[in-house]
Amino acid sequence: MYDLRIQADSKAELYRDLVAALESLVTGEPDPTANMANASALIMESLPDLNWAGFYRNVGGELVLGPFQGRAACIRIPFGKGVCGAAAETLQVQRVDDVHAFPGHIACDAASASELVVPIARNGELIAVLDLDSPRVARFTQEDEDGCVALCEVLARVL
Ligand code: SME
Repeated sequence: MYDLRIQADSKAELYRDLVAALESLVTGEPDPTANMANASALIMESLPDLNWAGFYRNVGGELVLGPFQGRAACIRIPFGKGVCGAAAETLQVQRVDDVHAFPGHIACDAASASELVVPIARNGELIAVLDLDSPRVARFTQEDEDGCVALCEVLARVL
């Protein structure tokens, strides 16, 4: 087992350490499932106030559940549907302060109140999305968005 517990005084430092820890976990490992599994465990352990952290993969133009930490979740999400589907269709980060106000939000876990979804693409092609859910309204800030984009840039090289 890796002990990559991260203690940081600021969010900037937290994400710097998290990116470095992720890089050390995935470098040299070509298996995408293993890398998504370790990434979801690392994120869930390191970021406070999350109830779900994981991946949906682009399988032939549909999002299919990948490795995650949290409660069992919906398996297939069409592009354009819900928060994940919006990120997949637009290739834009979706940062939603109140998921109940998001048209078409898919409630996999009733505890989720806010959500951050980051597309992971290579050469303009969607590979997967990183999905983070929180039980706290407006849990995710611009710093979280920037930090998670940096994490996904690392993952784009190994998925
Ligand atoms: N809430 C997401 C579905 C995935 S779960 O949160 C794990 C959405 O609306 O896309």
